[in-house]
Amino acid sequence: MAYPSSFLDELRARVSLAEIVGRRVALQKRGREYTGLCPFHKEKTPSFHVVEDKGFYHCFGCGAHGDVIGFAMQTQSLGFREAVEELARSVGLEVPRETPQERERDQRRATLARAMTAAAQFFTAQLAGPQGAAARAYLEGRGLDVEAVRRFGLGFAPNSHDALKRALAAEFPEPLLLEAGLVRRAEERPDAYDYFRNRIMFPIVDRRGQIIAFGGRVIDDRQPKYLNSPDTPLFQKGRVLYGWPARAAAGDSLVVVTEGYMDVIALQCAGFGAAVAPLGTALTEHQLEEVWKLAPEPVLCFDGDAAGRRAAERALDRGLPLLKPGRSLRFAMLPEGDDPDSLIRRAGRDALNGVLAQALPLVEKLWELETARPADTPERRAALEARLEMRVRQIADRAVRNHYRAFLDDRLYAAFRGGRPGWQKAGRRSATKPAPAWRQGPPRGDPALLRRRKDEVRLALLINHPFLLEEQGEDIATARLRDPELDRLLREILRIHVLMPDLDGGTLKFHLTENGFGAVVDRVLSPQVLNHVAAAQPQADPEIVREAWSELARQIELRDEARDMAAAERDLATDLSVETWTRHRPLFERKQRR
Ligand code: UTP
Ligand code: MN
Repeated sequence: MAYPSSFLDELRARVSLAEIVGRRVALQKRGREYTGLCPFHKEKTPSFHVVEDKGFYHCFGCGAHGDVIGFAMQTQSLGFREAVEELARSVGLEVPRETPQERERDQRRATLARAMTAAAQFFTAQLAGPQGAAARAYLEGRGLDVEAVRRFGLGFAPNSHDALKRALAAEFPEPLLLEAGLVRRAEERPDAYDYFRNRIMFPIVDRRGQIIAFGGRVIDDRQPKYLNSPDTPLFQKGRVLYGWPARAAAGDSLVVVTEGYMDVIALQCAGFGAAVAPLGTALTEHQLEEVWKLAPEPVLCFDGDAAGRRAAERALDRGLPLLKPGRSLRFAMLPEGDDPDSLIRRAGRDALNGVLAQALPLVEKLWELETARPADTPERRAALEARLEMRVRQIADRAVRNHYRAFLDDRLYAAFRGGRPGWQKAGRRSATKPAPAWRQGPPRGDPALLRRRKDEVRLALLINHPFLLEEQGEDIATARLRDPELDRLLREILRIHVLMPDLDGGTLKFHLTENGFGAVVDRVLSPQVLNHVAAAQPQADPEIVREAWSELARQIELRDEARDMAAAERDLATDLSVETWTRHRPLFERKQRR
């Protein structure tokens, strides 16, 4: 249910945004605003603004924006309700429970949670007791000491029909234990029996540390090796990560996602602060979102075998649509036959460190995946291009998508052209690896240079004639330049413009130089660029400036369109389905209208 808006307004009014933000960020008061270093991206000069009387924050550097609830959600990895409850508690405001059903549901969940905690206590007692000897020996054999067992709350479910049920019966009636997934009932038998028997027990906790489920591992080689609690009102498998308590340690920014319970434990015991795992399935979107709350570029670990490679590709597919500026995934492949646990035990933490250090950024993983096949003929190259384009289209965020396209275009260009020195630097291919077959090919003109020149002219126009920022603001704000340095310059121009709208060219140039953009500004305003287009010169007539701007914009649009068109035609050549056609149709229609 939604909270009444009157309550949320009251909450926002009572909580001081500046105070909440101030716990994380050193703020300086400037007039009615506060400024400080943005907690959502790395920066040296403050572009993070808090407008207390309006109740929102905004970062001119990374675009982060929100109110006090959003801030609590983002900085403390809380869900909306959790953030609301936490803030309400901090100012002594009571959270309304709208319906009796809701109150009842809350109570039911609280009771289930108590049953889970009681079960965990039972399991840990069993592990310590006479019944737990074999389990203790098993854990010791796997290198887990008493401290690790305590830290992860490990326990043992004895090999008994209903030991847990009997132990909890006095406090928790059978229907409740059924609902908690602690006992189950076979169809033809009336009495429920323990869900977990003769297994090492791994408690699974939610973000607040409440036990919501268990995983259980056999101590021999019976099947299934691991058993998880069924989904219950407390637990939905696809939304939970094992190892969540580690989020406290996520400040150290290396967040590792692995496959198994034992990997998480081994990683954390070896000092890799934040390690988490999904629960026996491929990562879901929900879980990825959760991992991103811990770190912007978590490292996903996969086995080096065929299954691991398939799993990596699946994760890549799942991740692509969810990428955002600054938010990605890295891929580490373990030696064949190892998982993080076995590698640490066998070769030590440095060996694992080595593997993690080799992790590929997502874009490199994508490139590696698609160039595994040779691209040594025009047809194969076209197919490679089409495959890359299909991947890029999965990316929902427009800015990231454009940068992927630009990055891969450059990579393809360099590759086909026959290996411009350094083209493979960004990938961590070993130097000894023979050049792949698809790298040979005739040189062609340098469209990348041409394109950069056009972008330089655009920037020169903007700097010398800032009135364009006012007139063409919307187009400019969404533009992404392929050259990262030029793109940063554009962002800075926009940022300064937002803060000081009416600058003339000279003052704008002054501020850019002040803020460390001197070198690139000089490059953009060099004679080579200015002589290229008379309109870029400071004394040019505004009409001519406008015309030059539109002409450039038109050329760039046409070029982008031609590229989209080529990609669409390739798509259609391989798959002339209604679906593909529907997807590309607007492009063709737009072109026809021209
Ligand atoms: P693995 O089979 O790779 O096991 O399963 P592991 O994590 O290396 O376990 P150990 O080292 O043999 O103890 C990876 C994960 O897949 C899930 C579990 O979450 C496990 O940690 N799994 C595996 C199941 O849910 N059920 C199974 O039967 C097996
Ligand atoms: Mn293992």
